[in-house]
Amino acid sequence: MATEFTLPHWYDLHTHFRQDETLQATVKDHIHMNCAGALAMPNTAPPVGKLFEADKPENYKSIEQYHAEILAASDGRFKEVIVPLYLTKDTSPDMIEKGARAGILKACKYYPPHGTTGAESGAPLDTYMENGVFQAMADTGVTLCVHGEEHGLDPERYFDRGENAEMIFYQERMPRLVDNFPGLRIVGEHLTTKVAVDFIQDTPSHVKGNITPQHLIYTIGHLLKGLKYHLYCLPLVKYSEDRAALRKAATSPNNTKFFAGTDSAPHVQKMTACGCAAGCYTGRIAPQLYAQAFEMAGVDLSDQAGQAIFKNFLCTIGQEFYDLPEPEETFTLEKKPENVQPLKVGDQTIIPLPLGMDFDMTWRIKP
Ligand code: DOR
Ligand code: ZN
Repeated sequence: MATEFTLPHWYDLHTHFRQDETLQATVKDHIHMNCAGALAMPNTAPPVGKLFEADKPENYKSIEQYHAEILAASDGRFKEVIVPLYLTKDTSPDMIEKGARAGILKACKYYPPHGTTGAESGAPLDTYMENGVFQAMADTGVTLCVHGEEHGLDPERYFDRGENAEMIFYQERMPRLVDNFPGLRIVGEHLTTKVAVDFIQDTPSHVKGNITPQHLIYTIGHLLKGLKYHLYCLPLVKYSEDRAALRKAATSPNNTKFFAGTDSAPHVQKMTACGCAAGCYTGRIAPQLYAQAFEMAGVDLSDQAGQAIFKNFLCTIGQEFYDLPEPEETFTLEKKPENVQPLKVGDQTIIPLPLGMDFDMTWRIKP
């Protein structure tokens, strides 16, 4: 019999569903990989920059609306969905208090201005440190989801051997953020560097981090050798030393800090005329990729102790942090090759990450 083990349904606590037809298709893929719900990022078009549909300005999508759209697309299968508010120049402390009081606001997302896909509406971090938004979040228990990369850097500092945008952010901005707002719940999203992992490790328990499958599996060399642009996401995959730190953090038996958040990001067109869209699509296949990554990190998933470490990362730490209902349903991973297929959205196609790579998946969800 192939190695197999059973897990509770899990929450993908960082994903992108977009809007319209893509939303329907990508939510289905998340249900297929046994998600009980998700934290769905607000960098839609238009961005989720207000609480209620009736709120001004009209050109933002509301949490109320997007949340309802995702639940409807899940056909009753998602137990809970968190839609963070996109922090913009229009976000005020009043909005935070109102949203928290109404129970609609659980999290806000900081995007470095122009730092990634759909980040055009972001304002610099200092804006919210100074205008009372972060204080209101700390006072009301609303979580800050941080895309931790310094914005506006020259290329020489953006990605070099000694420093990069994430390192600079975690060395210069995060310490001030954590020190100035000691009660603020923070999640460092999609960590990619040893510097970020070490920082999160040393913070109190209300500061956590999540890690994607691609950052556990690959390094910058995998992206550059053959320019495998399906692996182009932000923050970029880094060096093997960084990957080793991520693997150690995610697979430690004592892990209380790091949880699953795929950053699955559907793009129907990765390559453009003179650039590349950032984002890797891992809908349908994320638990399988995480399992493979854990084995690459040396975890024995045929053993109960190894399975418990995996479950802690995939199912427990994030669910408890966001106080989400514990799913009763289960699913089974089995050690057999996965048949990865492109996702059709109307007449367009989204290519899941491993299809662009030389990579055989070794785990599948038992049918
Ligand atoms: O690679 C990324 N893709 N990083 C992000 O921060 C955004 C995401 C997307 O929305 O496509
Ligand atoms: Zn993301």
